[in-house]
Amino acid sequence: MPTLPTVLVFGRSGQLATALSAHQAPTIIALGRSEADVTSEEAVRAALGRYRPQLVINASAYTAVDKAESERAAAEALNSSAPGLLAQASEEAGAAFVHVSTDYVFDGEAGAPYAETHPTSPVNFYGETKEKGERAVLAAGGRQAIIRTSWVFSGGGANFVRTMLRLASERDAIGVVADQQGRPTSAADLARACLAVGERLLAGDQAARGVFHFANAGDANWAELASAVMEEAARLGARTAAIRPITTADYPTPAKRPRDSRLATGRIEALIGAAPRPWRAALPEAVASIIRG
Ligand SMILES: NC(=O)c1ccc[n+]([C@@H]2O[C@H](COP(=O)([O-])OP(=O)(O)OC[C@H]3O[C@@H](n4cnc5c(N)ncnc54)[C@H](OP(=O)(O)O)[C@@H]3O)[C@@H](O)[C@H]2O)c1
Repeated sequence: MPTLPTVLVFGRSGQLATALSAHQAPTIIALGRSEADVTSEEAVRAALGRYRPQLVINASAYTAVDKAESERAAAEALNSSAPGLLAQASEEAGAAFVHVSTDYVFDGEAGAPYAETHPTSPVNFYGETKEKGERAVLAAGGRQAIIRTSWVFSGGGANFVRTMLRLASERDAIGVVADQQGRPTSAADLARACLAVGERLLAGDQAARGVFHFANAGDANWAELASAVMEEAARLGARTAAIRPITTADYPTPAKRPRDSRLATGRIEALIGAAPRPWRAALPEAVASIIRG
């Protein structure tokens, strides 16, 4: 990818940051919070000055959806304020900027996959903070794109797939919510999408600006995703648990979740000329990586 000489990623050990770091080319520099705290304007500007990237990708976020309800200041600092600072500082440094947001900006009541133009209406504080972050990025203007994604899983970092495998090593049966629907997404595929959109931004493509949705193909509820994880674990000879479908009412959480937050991905498919693969095809790699440690 010769048009992407230096990509600076904010975030290092998270799911997306790790997946981005796996790319050999272009040159990817990923900075964790100890190297560049995105809540510090000075640290962000110093990193941009030091590495002089052509493209910046924001892989940092406060992603603990339930904890965000009580740790409001921390969630706001990372999800609402930092994205605007990163967008502004990238623009001033002459770099294109890719920000990542979430399906949880929607209330989940549309009854069909969400297009980018659908009005946002978050049902939890995490979603509110991410919605504010999107607005701040858009207000900064310039060569920038926001990629909303959903239900991210990978072999590294904390995620639902890892949680299911851990629970399966401890119990015989797991109750998993079956009345929330979405589109599971591989962090590796999301990383490729971020780089592809970034490449279009650097090529000066106006169609690469604005909001995009990226998720793997195929719908699932959490219980279906958990069952697929168990199928893969069984194939690898790992311990499995029976998945017992339950309702949201059976599993109360501090943060409310949207019932159906499936994202429609037509806009990004048209831009990059490729359709996302099914989540079921991406899952084995993540399960194998977690099981093999
Ligand atoms: N996970 C999901 O299911 C999901 C669903 C929808 C959308 N998304 C969005 O997708 C994006 C990537 O999510 P993810 O799952 O990769 O997140 P993650 O695994 O929770 O990683 C969070 C990242 O944020 C970084 N970070 C935290 N505080 C920081 C600070 N003060 N300064 C700099 N970096 C800081 C961490 O850096 P360190 O390297 O220092 O730890 C880590 O790399 C986020 O925008 C998220 O909102 C995620």
